[in-house]
Amino acid sequence: MRRSCTTRILLLVCALASIARAETGYDAWLRYEPIQAASVRALYDRLPATIVALDNSAVLSAAETEMLRGIRGMLGRTLRVAATVPSEDSIVLGTIASIQRVFPKLAERRGLTPDGFWLDSTALDGHNVLIVAGLNDRGVLYGVFALLRKLSLHERIDELDETESPIAPIRWVNEWDNLDGSIERGYAGRSIFFENNHVVPDLSRAGDYARLLASIGIDGCTVNNVNANPRILAADFLPQLARIADAFRPWGVRLSISVDFASPKTVGGLDTFDPLNARVANWWREKADEIYRAIPDFGGFVLKADSEGRVGPSVYGRTHADAADVLAQALRPHGGILIYRGFVYNHHMDWRDLKNDRARAAYDNFHSLDGKFDENAAVQIKYGPIDFQAREPVSPLFGALEHTNETIELQITQEYTGQQRHLCYLVPMWKEVLDFNLRVNDGDTPVKDIVAGRTFHRPLGGFVGVANVGRDPSWLGNELAMANLYGFGRLAWNPDLTARQITEEWTRSTFGNDANVVDTVMNLQLESWRAYEGYTGPLGLGTLTDILHSHYGPGIESAERNGWGQWIRADHEGIGMDRTVATGTGYIGQYPPQVAAMYESLATCPDNLLLFMHHVPYTHLLHSGKTVIQYVYDSHYEAAEEAQQFPEWWKTLRGRVDDQRYRDILAMLEYQAGHAIVWRDAICSWFLRVSGIPDAKGRAGHFPNRIEAESMQLNGYTVENVTPWEDASGGKAIECREPSKSCSAQFIFDGAPGWYDLDVQYFDVNTGAAEFKVYVGHQQVDYWTADAQLPATAPNGDSSTRRRISGLALRPKDEIRIEGIPNSGDTAAVDYVETVLRKAQ
Ligand code: GCU
Repeated sequence: MRRSCTTRILLLVCALASIARAETGYDAWLRYEPIQAASVRALYDRLPATIVALDNSAVLSAAETEMLRGIRGMLGRTLRVAATVPSEDSIVLGTIASIQRVFPKLAERRGLTPDGFWLDSTALDGHNVLIVAGLNDRGVLYGVFALLRKLSLHERIDELDETESPIAPIRWVNEWDNLDGSIERGYAGRSIFFENNHVVPDLSRAGDYARLLASIGIDGCTVNNVNANPRILAADFLPQLARIADAFRPWGVRLSISVDFASPKTVGGLDTFDPLNARVANWWREKADEIYRAIPDFGGFVLKADSEGRVGPSVYGRTHADAADVLAQALRPHGGILIYRGFVYNHHMDWRDLKNDRARAAYDNFHSLDGKFDENAAVQIKYGPIDFQAREPVSPLFGALEHTNETIELQITQEYTGQQRHLCYLVPMWKEVLDFNLRVNDGDTPVKDIVAGRTFHRPLGGFVGVANVGRDPSWLGNELAMANLYGFGRLAWNPDLTARQITEEWTRSTFGNDANVVDTVMNLQLESWRAYEGYTGPLGLGTLTDILHSHYGPGIESAERNGWGQWIRADHEGIGMDRTVATGTGYIGQYPPQVAAMYESLATCPDNLLLFMHHVPYTHLLHSGKTVIQYVYDSHYEAAEEAQQFPEWWKTLRGRVDDQRYRDILAMLEYQAGHAIVWRDAICSWFLRVSGIPDAKGRAGHFPNRIEAESMQLNGYTVENVTPWEDASGGKAIECREPSKSCSAQFIFDGAPGWYDLDVQYFDVNTGAAEFKVYVGHQQVDYWTADAQLPATAPNGDSSTRRRISGLALRPKDEIRIEGIPNSGDTAAVDYVETVLRKAQ
């Protein structure tokens, strides 16, 4: 079969050009770093020089180009592209059917499921043949990526005979991109798909993103926010969407979209959107037909209804199943699927009623509808019953839908886990979730098997990750965070992989095979979630963040006394939601009996979910033997201390990682180390005040070597209260509110002579970029501009930032002065200064 060589050559030239790109993180784990070591190169001496693709399709073409690109990058060789199987050693790509046509003697491989592949190095007709076969085109592409992964991990490929199939058919990412180009809960710049209510003219990034997705087995991408703008279904928008689908197609990624349930009315001009109305059903059918005419491989719709202000079937007294089915039936003739979000709850719940409980909502809304959803519909369930917290129990809904397809929703974008400014690698958490055995019908029913459709023999099921990549060169705004995207894809393909395996693969392909680099990066990644949980929220309380706005810095009481239902029920005596059946909200009763029994009893409830399940006094003894309150203090001090080590670990890699990534990541880890202290202090101070019980180790509320800004000698600065109070040391900051002036704050150092680190805790708001100068006596020792893009317009836990001036020689009676120059609403606010003795002198 002949194919145009010019297209191939063009693709190859583009591919090679991008290999030369600087290390911005753009290539992520597909860097194809040259293999230098002779002993490793020798492993690939016998790699055939010629490649042939047996099938003629966009996906096969992409697979072949990728092979050329990878081999060129790693081995510096350009494979010869042949149109037919040559009479020499060769690499042969094709679907199983084509491979068997060409090599009838080849033993048939059974057991592959769609998208699965088979890698085989074998001797045929006197030649060595390296076969990359897939059950379908996508399978071939996945096989190529698997083969190239082996090279980047320096594994042998000369005795291959292996097959792999994905655990589930649905392996999608959701992007919460708005058509105006902003991204809900996105932390890496604007949309790569939309701008100004149109699809962007240049979709090369969309294509490059699809390539990244394909390399980890992702087969679908929903490109717009679940809080959908109805315009997505407008007739003039469709050709634009078709362009995105075109960019995805070579990579086997199907386009899908989120839709607004009222569209038949708002877009279609009908007077109703009642799902049981025949005209409405007809409208959805015609809309689906129209879409499939433009995008024949369209994936389907995602629907968020009756949740957080979105309209839904309740307007007409209909059920979620009615709503799902009217869309599913429109998609069904074309092979499309409908994903209905299980994230449905009332956000105006009465917080005074101790029986109310948002955690109950998903199960209460859906379990009675089990069996009523069409075969091409699936209910998408967030991993926990609340909302992507750093720790939650798994949603009991997973175990309650035996006759309904399910997908699990994981969040790659770190909405509640540090927003990519904190390293928080989520694969270990996802593994715990996926491996959790719900013991449905007293059986062995881990979540991963249920959502894959295995437990209840469902035709559909799978994994959805909310990714929210943006235009930042490194896609997620931070190269280390890309491990979450990688890990999501790998788990969606095979949830039995261990966290270590996945981390090692990602690290080696992202940073190379230097053993020091691999060890250090893996340690950082694998420790990070435990540390993040440790300094942000203890014992299952969730991330104690500002839940009303940023979801970023500490904001403990924002969870209480409102309708959002993320209550922690704290008072002076105790804390935690009583979710027991005996005395609480009854949530625990939604689990199958064995799991319910474990959570219901204080004797068996695990410590790390204690306060999710029970309300206990601060003096309650944990299984570990500590009181709740002492655990809170200890975990926050220990985890924040661990975060101080992260930049130190990273610094050991200087010279072993390219400069740009070295610097970017160091800056991020240093910021995180400072912000971990903000978290630690906010939570410990708050618990100390509310419980009135001191820290047995004397740390909480005591800050040796800290000089509060409000106690300094101020010139122009005024003392202001910070809200919430726990977000600033002493509840106060100084601000320079006189826009035309600079202000200063000074104090006399009275420590011993020595080398010090001087930490200035200041607030970096995003309305402007204040400047800071620091002097010791007359000597200026530092200057910086507060221009980070943090989610804050006022001094608080979102904006609080540490500047470390290290290696300062200080002497008693030195005058230390901070000068702040405000700018456009940024008042050059300061919280405190801390001096840390590094070496006496
Ligand atoms: C969270 C998130 C919202 C999002 C919602 C959802 O609440 O903060 O921005 O729309 O989840 O998943 O639908």
